[in-house]
Amino acid sequence: MEYRTLANGVSMPILGFGTYLLQNETCTEMVKYAIEQGYEAIDTAQAYENEEAVGEGIRQSGKKRDDIFITSKIRNRFHGYDNTLMAVENTLTTMGLEQMDLFLIHWPGENMYVPTWKALVRMYDEGLIRAIGVSNFLPEHMEQAAQATGRMPMVNQFETHPYLHQYEIIDYCKNNDVFPIAWSPLMVGGEVLDDPVILNIAERYGKTTAQTILRWHLQNGFGVIPKSSHADRILQNKDIFDFKLTQIEMEEMNQLTKKQIRVGDDPATYRFLLLDQLKEKK
Ligand SMILES: NC(=O)c1ccc[n+]([C@@H]2O[C@H](COP(=O)([O-])OP(=O)(O)OC[C@H]3O[C@@H](n4cnc5c(N)ncnc54)[C@H](OP(=O)(O)O)[C@@H]3O)[C@@H](O)[C@H]2O)c1
Repeated sequence: MEYRTLANGVSMPILGFGTYLLQNETCTEMVKYAIEQGYEAIDTAQAYENEEAVGEGIRQSGKKRDDIFITSKIRNRFHGYDNTLMAVENTLTTMGLEQMDLFLIHWPGENMYVPTWKALVRMYDEGLIRAIGVSNFLPEHMEQAAQATGRMPMVNQFETHPYLHQYEIIDYCKNNDVFPIAWSPLMVGGEVLDDPVILNIAERYGKTTAQTILRWHLQNGFGVIPKSSHADRILQNKDIFDFKLTQIEMEEMNQLTKKQIRVGDDPATYRFLLLDQLKEKK
């Protein structure tokens, strides 16, 4: 395994196991299997409603707590200072943990992310969380969070794959020591896996397109958190440390971003209701 040292000195595995859409026993089983096979980081979120199953999988793996890096994210409806304090406590209880390795704000939304960030900073200072960061934040969101607290997010997790390489966010992360992590690194198993340019490169190394894409992410300085519910793919997605793409191959793959295909929401426009608003609606 390889690691990235975050801005505060905490070491984070650059490969993790994604758990979006994994539920109940399957989730527990897959998390346990991934850890047994050597994954050292697990990515979940309050919104995935699988934190309990993820916690169970970690316990069943028999690995020492300190050997697994666990990330969760504040659910959109829990934005705000007090809600965030409560939501983090809930996650710790649900997962059966005393401390979280990394907590992210899942989406910036419009104007609530500063109080949410302040609450995460407080819980980090109190030692409940080892590192704090954001997800789907544009440079202006990171800038505002940092200006309001004097604390720059240590991580930004955002949609990245060969058909959507977001240079503006990447540059901001690089200049501010923010570790970029690619979500949907395989474009949710979509058309990018059949891309002829990537197929051609993959064949040279005897690798699959999925492995070649994950390798491309790593060489671009990203962390990756591929998800799979199949044992063979979980193994395959881990086997990405024994080959290296050339500068020309990296450039060929970088060029594919011209397609600009987004599989998730756009943070510039994505809006959601907060807890109070959801209650009022009922
Ligand atoms: N922060 C955010 O807003 C955000 C948003 C989305 C996702 N995420 C995180 O990022 C993780 C990964 O993203 P994702 O789950 O959306 O998509 P992904 O990891 O890009 O792709 C997962 C899909 O690809 C398939 N797949 C996995 N490995 C494969 C392989 N080697 N060959 C062929 N197909 C393969 C999986 O199918 P099977 O399961 O059938 O194998 C699944 O359908 C999530 O699980 C979640 O933890 C975060």
